[in-house]
Amino acid sequence: MRILKLLALIFLVYLRPTAAFTDYLIKKCSQSGFCVRNRHYANEIGLGTTAPVYSVDRSSVKISTENHTITAIVEKRFSTGEGPETLVTLPLTLDIMNGSSIRFTIDENRDHIEGPLRLNSRRYNETAAWAFSPDTPYSLAEFKTSRSVWPFSRSYLQLNSVSGLVSIRLHYASFKLEIFYKKELVFTVNDRSLLNIEHARQKELNQRNKSPAETTFSDFSDSFRYSKDDTLPFGPESVAMDFTFHNIENVYGIPEHADSLRLKETVASDPYRLFNVDVFEYDLYSGMPMYGSIPFMLGSRPGLSAGVFWVNAADTWIDVSYESQGAKTHWMSEAGILDVVLFLGDQPSDITSAYTLLTGRPNLPSLSSIGYHQCRWNYNDEKDVLTVDSQMDKAEIPYDFIWLDLEYTDNKKFFTWRPDAFPNPLKMLKKLHRMGRNLVALIDPHLKVGYEVSDAVEQSRAAVLTSQNDTYHGHCWPGESLWIDTFGECGITIWSSFIQRFVDKTKNLFIWNDMNEPSIFSGPETTAPKDLIHAGGFEERSLHNLYGLSVHEATYNAMTQVYGDSSRPFILTRAFFAGSQRTAATWTGDNMADWGYLRISIPMCLTNNLAGFPFIGADIAGFSGDPSNELIVRWYQAGMWYPFFRAHAHIDALRREPYLFEDKIQETVRKVIRLRYSLLPTFYTAFHDASVNGTPIMKPLFYAHPELDETYKIDDQFYLGNSGLLVKPVTTEGETDTQVFFAAGLFYDYFTLESLEIHRPGHYLVNAPLTELPVYLEGGNIIFRKDRYRRSAKLMARDPVTLVVAPTAEGVALGSLYLDDGETLLYQGGDFLKVEVTLKQNELISQVVNSPDTESLSSSNHIERIIVALSRQASLPSVAKITQGNTTSQREITLDPTSHFFVIQNPGLVVGQAWSVVFE
Ligand code: NOJ
Repeated sequence: MRILKLLALIFLVYLRPTAAFTDYLIKKCSQSGFCVRNRHYANEIGLGTTAPVYSVDRSSVKISTENHTITAIVEKRFSTGEGPETLVTLPLTLDIMNGSSIRFTIDENRDHIEGPLRLNSRRYNETAAWAFSPDTPYSLAEFKTSRSVWPFSRSYLQLNSVSGLVSIRLHYASFKLEIFYKKELVFTVNDRSLLNIEHARQKELNQRNKSPAETTFSDFSDSFRYSKDDTLPFGPESVAMDFTFHNIENVYGIPEHADSLRLKETVASDPYRLFNVDVFEYDLYSGMPMYGSIPFMLGSRPGLSAGVFWVNAADTWIDVSYESQGAKTHWMSEAGILDVVLFLGDQPSDITSAYTLLTGRPNLPSLSSIGYHQCRWNYNDEKDVLTVDSQMDKAEIPYDFIWLDLEYTDNKKFFTWRPDAFPNPLKMLKKLHRMGRNLVALIDPHLKVGYEVSDAVEQSRAAVLTSQNDTYHGHCWPGESLWIDTFGECGITIWSSFIQRFVDKTKNLFIWNDMNEPSIFSGPETTAPKDLIHAGGFEERSLHNLYGLSVHEATYNAMTQVYGDSSRPFILTRAFFAGSQRTAATWTGDNMADWGYLRISIPMCLTNNLAGFPFIGADIAGFSGDPSNELIVRWYQAGMWYPFFRAHAHIDALRREPYLFEDKIQETVRKVIRLRYSLLPTFYTAFHDASVNGTPIMKPLFYAHPELDETYKIDDQFYLGNSGLLVKPVTTEGETDTQVFFAAGLFYDYFTLESLEIHRPGHYLVNAPLTELPVYLEGGNIIFRKDRYRRSAKLMARDPVTLVVAPTAEGVALGSLYLDDGETLLYQGGDFLKVEVTLKQNELISQVVNSPDTESLSSSNHIERIIVALSRQASLPSVAKITQGNTTSQREITLDPTSHFFVIQNPGLVVGQAWSVVFE
């Protein structure tokens, strides 16, 4: 009977014919104890009939000027009318850090609590240790304090950062923080008094121990159909808080949701939920939880931006509402401490930068990994892999990675190869390597029970445990399985040894960590029961959203030990958390070959980009189902701009490798993939910018033009990093023209370089027949290309470079290029080339900002062409004087009257050395 139920579940979750997600598997707010309790609390407080119960004990405030920290005790004090007053003491810390960010934590002393012996009784406070980057320990800023005397004598403590940018007021009477940036009030923390810490209590005393606004709904038992077995050993222990963004009416972030870029109000719906779960064919325009969670929210308006990072990895719900004077948000997490970082800045990019300074910059991937990836569930055997490989070459379509999904394993036992299908993986890998190509193999964190790998894990007690302290067994692809626990040293070490053995002796084998939410077919909400136990004695409940990160980080670290400096490991993870950007790429999971999923992929990728995790893409042309020709073309046209550019298909979908498409479709797709390759230098520079300061690679319009109010609601077009390339994919069936929003200025059609002069920012209708995609280069930018077709990115290393110069009406432009060996970690020691090219007063000047140690990097990339776009008003120069080193030469410039640009062919310049071209 159980087996039947399971099969039915697998069918429902994965194999059923196309339909929307089976959403009854996932809790609604009304079925989630702590969501109901905190929304109830908010209602009660909102009615104003109960007084807030949290205050700061003034006498407890300690100001440590030595380590720049404030500590104090927050008191939760109430009486129920029966017995003595309840007083819960909650330690508070408050810091100004990294210039203009603020961190505070509120914990609960639970030493007196007796949970089951195997559990750690303290609240989980290690989320920050996972999410913050170990490389950039945050620095606490100096501050000055003043205890204010007005308007209420000694009613708050004021801290001013020494920089003068930030001040904080800590109000005592009813706990509240007011945060000012450049003297303007930006945040009020606990503005609506929704701070709620469900303190530890025993079941027998439950009723007596509730403050008036609290309710008892599902606090010691879970009534949801699939999680009734939850033992809830500590009863209710949620933490909640509200944040008001003053005068900021746009909030973004908190991926992952299949929703618009600007978050929607949740007044009449469920809150947005962050809880990593497996959601095959997820619902669109919904706040339902998905595979990844980044509890980071950005608020932005012209001239001011702010961010909230809610450092909590438990199940979390977030309510959002907009009011004329700002945005109000209410955050609720099931367990853990309250740990929050607030960011302040002028521009949205300042906030992404500060957030990624704290949680780690996105890593710089290998050049190959930003090429095209060909995947399907499944390539069946070595012959199949090598046939796809050669067919791509035959069709002259470049690609860099081919992927092996689940079925390459011996009976779904990870770290093994199916012997009849893959008798000699090393030989196959070597063959792929000849053209610089790579293979990715799927390794999930569930291990089939009863083979050497899972036996070793079980014997070392390195698996996730049940609430009774036994190895947990559940169901996933291989049937009965256990799950590696990468939260503890033992689990990390053993996982690492498997990974190392698996990739050992290879140069081009990388890993896909799928199903790491974790996905458990037999588990509640398709994932792990919340009372499972991890290393350190912490429940799954407290750290659930970190599990995927712990797995892919362990995988990455193991691979760096094998490859050393010689290669940058590529890992794809499905589940993620804040900090995942340091070691992995991700994608939007199991979408469908349907227009709605193409459309939503853009705001989804943009959201991840602004939340510090830009290496993201969506399955092209839809994971399940069979796309029409039109959808295939439109999806490749949009997908070539995803930072992670991969085609993938469900096991039941028809084969759709691009060389199989009928001629006209194939021709368009070939062009699109080749366009991605020709722009690899520009993409790679964008990845480098992201790795240095967190700059989004797919960049929302309001990041590029924060001065324009209209940009804040646009989420169907974007820029490529700082390149000035503006893209508006067509995502509607049958559409052959589309509205594009332009800021004021000059824009050049990418393909013809015809200029468009925009006097008034707004939407303009442009032509977009199926074979064309609307791409513009904004005046003021210079981009870099490598235009020759090669079979893979690696083979392009020494190819010559083309510059495209797009001047403003004033004749000014700027661009930069980053180049390194594309493969090793030597760039970290400074072995890279960075040049900046400017056009000013008819002179194009290239300066070397960083010279590489490797000679070939500075000498081998010749400039093949300089293309200069001409606006209608621009006058055509007649000669170009070219200087590099001591050599000067002169070229006459002629223009074909039908074209909108002029070209200097083979100017005899090398990218890696300073040069100039004067136009006269
Ligand atoms: C789920 C993943 O989302 C999908 O991409 C993959 O093909 C299947 N697992 C099978 O491994």
